Amino acid sequence: MNNIYRMKYRSVIVTQRGSSEFLQVVENFLRAPHPGEVRIKILSAPVSLPDVEARYGRSPFKLKVPFVPGYAIVGDVDEIGEGIQNFSVGDRVAALTVFGGYSEYIYLKENQLVPVSPTLDPAEVAPLILNYIVSYQTFHRSARVNPGDKVLIIGASGGIGTAFLQLGKLANLTMYGLASKSKHEVLSDYGAMPIDYRSQDFLEVIRETEPGGLDAIFDGVGGDYIRRSFSLLKPGGTYVGYCNPQSLSGMFRYLGLVLWLNLLPNGRSAKLYGTGISRFNRQPFLDDWATLFNLLEAGKIKPIIAAKYPILEAAEANQQLESGEVTGNIVLLGSGAI
Ligand SMILES: NC(=O)c1ccc[n+]([C@@H]2O[C@H](COP(=O)([O-])OP(=O)(O)OC[C@H]3O[C@@H](n4cnc5c(N)ncnc54)[C@H](OP(=O)(O)O)[C@@H]3O)[C@@H](O)[C@H]2O)c1
Repeated sequence: MNNIYRMKYRSVIVTQRGSSEFLQVVENFLRAPHPGEVRIKILSAPVSLPDVEARYGRSPFKLKVPFVPGYAIVGDVDEIGEGIQNFSVGDRVAALTVFGGYSEYIYLKENQLVPVSPTLDPAEVAPLILNYIVSYQTFHRSARVNPGDKVLIIGASGGIGTAFLQLGKLANLTMYGLASKSKHEVLSDYGAMPIDYRSQDFLEVIRETEPGGLDAIFDGVGGDYIRRSFSLLKPGGTYVGYCNPQSLSGMFRYLGLVLWLNLLPNGRSAKLYGTGISRFNRQPFLDDWATLFNLLEAGKIKPIIAAKYPILEAAEANQQLESGEVTGNIVLLGSGAI
């Protein structure tokens, strides 16, 4: 047997549902990629709220414990299996993995990979693969925003929220954002009007400032916000929800509410992110990631990275995200990117 296959690599697994203390480092044997598979040495992976929600089991489709969390990765192709056509050893790639990213290595199918320029910083590419694609597609595919549109971002200080702020400034939108008072500076930096959801009535503030109503609302929090914020839209305005409904029953309730809002004869519409973007057609994703990579290369966007941790310190990184004190993104780094 080749010596490399006595080598081990480490991953971080969820050992049971609950807090970040249930994230544990484990060792695995490195193996050759199967036919059609590529082995990737991971350079960076975002720590996202969906990772935390998956650990607690707060999602409509629960992952079976134990599992390796990690919704996205950036890395270098380390070995290719039989039949790989479009990638070679040494290529820089990214992938939306949904799970598996908290690891030194990952095995993926060729059709999951996105080519990435090696000139880009892997730490800055990581947030583009999840948070920025959600923001970009919500703006440009779900709501189809136009310059000058007046929009509200519910959850404007987080990973997706700060992506909205940067992309919204580029799209010349007039932005209002809900966030904790301590994080208002970042909203103002990108030209958004901050509203403190704890001490201010956002309905009152926006009705007073925009009596004609809003063109679009982007909701990453859900719950009561759906019905309440919908009333702020002008006729023809669009609500787009991208929050996690937390459970299967929550998902059906959310879908039902969206259907019901669309039946109201007021010209406003409600959508969920992902509607109209087929998971089976990767082309819009590849096109949008390419656009985001170009914006990053040109310095037009720059993900706010609140903290970077070595991959094996994912537990500490998760704890920080859960503290609620993070503005922007947290990124894990592999040994090749530290
Ligand atoms: N549909 C998809 O494909 C997809 C993909 C990724 C994520 N998501 C979902 O998107 C949501 C946001 O994810 P994220 O990564 O941006 O999370 P995050 O970085 O943790 O940010 C959470 C945001 O929500 C705000 N917030 C929390 N409680 C609030 C409340 N009661 N009222 C108003 N704002 C509140 C926070 O504001 P402060 O911190 O300022 O208090 C912060 O801006 C999650 O539900 C996640 O599951 C969906």
